[in-house]
Amino acid sequence: MSSSSSKSAGVITCRAAVAWGPGQPLLLEEVEVDPPSAMEIRIKVVCTSLCRSDVTQWQSQAQPDLFPRIFGHEASGIVESVGEGVTEFQAGDHVLTVFIGECQSCKHCESGKSNMCQKLGLERRGVMHSDQKTRFRVKGKPVYHYCAVSSFSEYTVVHSGCAVKISPDVRMERACLLSCGVAAGIGAAWKVADISKGSTVVIFGLGTVGLSVAQAAKSRGASRIIGVDINPEKYEKGKVFGVTEYINPEECKEPVQQVIKQITDGGADYSFECIGDTNIVSTALQSCCDGWGMTVTLGVPKTKTEISTHYAFLLTGRTLKGSLFGGWRPKSDLPSLVEKYSKGEIQLDELVTHDIPFESINEAFNLMKEGSCLRCVIHMPK
Ligand SMILES: NC(=O)c1ccc[n+]([C@@H]2O[C@H](COP(=O)([O-])OP(=O)(O)OC[C@H]3O[C@@H](n4cnc5c(N)ncnc54)[C@H](O)[C@@H]3O)[C@@H](O)[C@H]2O)c1
Ligand SMILES: [Zn+2]
Ligand SMILES: [Zn+2]
Repeated sequence: MSSSSSKSAGVITCRAAVAWGPGQPLLLEEVEVDPPSAMEIRIKVVCTSLCRSDVTQWQSQAQPDLFPRIFGHEASGIVESVGEGVTEFQAGDHVLTVFIGECQSCKHCESGKSNMCQKLGLERRGVMHSDQKTRFRVKGKPVYHYCAVSSFSEYTVVHSGCAVKISPDVRMERACLLSCGVAAGIGAAWKVADISKGSTVVIFGLGTVGLSVAQAAKSRGASRIIGVDINPEKYEKGKVFGVTEYINPEECKEPVQQVIKQITDGGADYSFECIGDTNIVSTALQSCCDGWGMTVTLGVPKTKTEISTHYAFLLTGRTLKGSLFGGWRPKSDLPSLVEKYSKGEIQLDELVTHDIPFESINEAFNLMKEGSCLRCVIHMPK
C-alpha cells in the first residue's frame, strides 16, 4: 500500500517534559522525535491535560527501568506527517490521541462488544506497539513512552489506530479532556452501567472521572446522585454536574456503605469507583442493592492491586464490572462524543480549573498531588 500523503520529514528536535525517575520533577529537555514508521503518524501536540493516571504512574516505583520517560495521554494535536500505509490521516488534520487504540480487525474490534483491541491495547512497557521500540531520544538515550501516546512533548508519534480525527471547529484546548477522563466517566455510566431513568447512583471520588459519571447519570434522569469524597470542596463543583447529595466518609460515624444503605432503602442501583483505591471497590459493592445493584470500577490503583469482598454480595445478585475508556471504541464511538460536546450536550469547560503553559507543567503535577484541581490543561507553544 502506498502512502496517500507527503512522505514524512526527518527527525524533529523539540522540547519535551522528561521524567528521569519516579516522582522526580519533569525537566524540559531537547529531544529527538523519529519520523513515523509504517501506519504511524507524527503529531504536533496543541493541548494536553493532566490525568490522575499520569501522576499515579509517574509516582509508581513499579517500573524503575522505564525512565527517562515522557508521560501524557490526554491530548489534542495536528498531524505533522504520516508514515507508510496511512490513508486515514494527512498533514494538517486535527486529532485526539487515545490510550487504547482500535485496529478494526482483531477479534475484539470485530466483536462490536469490546474496546480491548488485541493489537493496540493498553501499552505498559513504554514502547510502540508495532516494533517494541521508542521514537524519542534525549542526550542520545532512548526515552520511554507512556500508553504509546506521550503527549508531554511538542511532537509525538502514535499509531494511526490510536488517534481520532476531529473537526477543525472543535476547541482543541477543551476537547483533549475527551481523550481519556471524561470519556471514561461518561461511558461507564451510559455504556457499561446503562443507567436507567429514576435510578439512585453513588459515585466514589468527585474528580474529573467521577463528575463525568455524574453528568452522564443526570442526563439519563437519575433521581439521586450521591457523591462521596474526602475533600468537601468537591461538592460545590459536583452540583454543577448533577450531584444531589454529598457524603464525606471521614465525617461518618458508621462505615459509609452503612450510611448509604440507610438513606437508599437497602442500597443504590449503581455505584462507581472513581478514586483508584481497591479497598473502595468492596465499599462500592456493599453500597449497592441486592438483586440488581451494579458497581462499575474505573480507578487505577496506586498500590494493592487485588480486590477482596464477601462472596455473598455476588450470590445476592450484585454485579461488579470494570472498564477502560468507558468501554468506548475510540474510532467508532469518540466522534459522537465530540459532536455532543460541540452541541453543548456534554460539559467539558467546567472541568478545567487551570490553563498552564508548557514551561510550568510541574505546577499541574503539584496541583493534582495536592488535590486542588480538576483538569489542568497544558498549552504547548504555538
Ligand atoms: N478506567 C479508565 O479508563 C480511567 C480513565 C481516567 C482515569 N482513571 C482513573 O480514575 C481515577 C480518578 O481519576 P481522576 O482524574 O478523576 O482523579 P482525581 O484525583 O482528580 O479524583 C479522585 C477524587 O477522589 C477523592 N478521593 C481520594 N481518596 C478518597 C477516599 N478514600 N474516599 C473518597 N474520596 C477519595 C479525591 O478527593 C478526588 O476528588 C484515577 O484512579 C485514575 O487513574 C481511569
Ligand atoms: Zn483491534
Ligand atoms: Zn487518563
